[in-house]
Amino acid sequence: MDRVSAFAGMTKRIKETNMTGRLEGRTALITGAASGIGRAASLIFAAEGARIVAVDRAGEVEATVDLVRKAGGEAVAMVGDGGDKAFVDSAVETALDRFGGLDVTFANAGVSGGLVPLFELTPELWTDILRINLVGVFLAVQASARAMLDRGTPGSIICTASVAGLRSGAGGVPYSASKAGVISLVQTVANQLGGSGIRINAVCPGLTETGMTQPVFDMARARGTDHKLGQLNPLRRAAVPEEIARVALFLASDDASYVNGQAIAVDGGLSSSHPVVPGKMA
Ligand SMILES: NC(=O)c1ccc[n+]([C@@H]2O[C@H](COP(=O)([O-])OP(=O)(O)OC[C@H]3O[C@@H](n4cnc5c(N)ncnc54)[C@H](O)[C@@H]3O)[C@@H](O)[C@H]2O)c1
Repeated sequence: MDRVSAFAGMTKRIKETNMTGRLEGRTALITGAASGIGRAASLIFAAEGARIVAVDRAGEVEATVDLVRKAGGEAVAMVGDGGDKAFVDSAVETALDRFGGLDVTFANAGVSGGLVPLFELTPELWTDILRINLVGVFLAVQASARAMLDRGTPGSIICTASVAGLRSGAGGVPYSASKAGVISLVQTVANQLGGSGIRINAVCPGLTETGMTQPVFDMARARGTDHKLGQLNPLRRAAVPEEIARVALFLASDDASYVNGQAIAVDGGLSSSHPVVPGKMA
């Protein structure tokens, strides 16, 4: 089977997989829910029984909520800046007011900032990327953990980092630093929340076709080089958003009841290897 058919088959299999109510009766807050991984997670978490607070700065988050409702789920949209404390606090309040609690937070919103060379980077770009990708995640984690602690219920927080946070080669300097920061935040907060029953973990996606990476995919298809997308990982393909959202679902659910403080690579095996030219040792 060629790589393109394998990719199409995977997407179909994921969509056809039976749901088992793993988040039945729970409320999940998802940031970056207008697109890509956040939209896929909204649909999958809702299909597993969760009520969704879908958060994004883009108005398309309303379309995500429509999709959830059309599939029989319950969701509310919140449009605003995930890097703004008052807005993030209000999103958590919405979960408590509308759905009576908060059990799962997927702090997933992020921006790439492009591949700006070292000597062209400005403090303004650094500040912008860190504000959204790292401080925004922190705000969601802090407000969610507080709400979960106040109710005295166990919860699960998942943060989207990246393979770029593990090592070089998958993003610009501030982006990679922001994602390494997310991994560090997860490790530190897991310990600060010790004894609470709240788990916090990170997913580290590899190249995934989403809004953020669409230009890369479009350019490769226009050039006829799309078979090379993801060529450096052992699966030799890029991911679809559902494949990342499925791992977030695992971490959100009781299936991951003993998984805490971890950064889980979902990258087709990319981060398992040092750089290598296949078939050559030198
Ligand atoms: N696509 C990839 O290859 C890839 C790889 C590794 C990690 N990631 C990470 O996955 C996460 C989701 O991104 P995606 O790939 O689905 O891209 P995407 O662009 O499709 O989705 C990101 C969403 O975040 C939202 N967002 C951005 N800034 C925001 C802000 N300040 N407030 C609220 N919402 C905001 C955007 O509007 C968008 O809807 C990001 O954290 C990204 O860094 C993506």
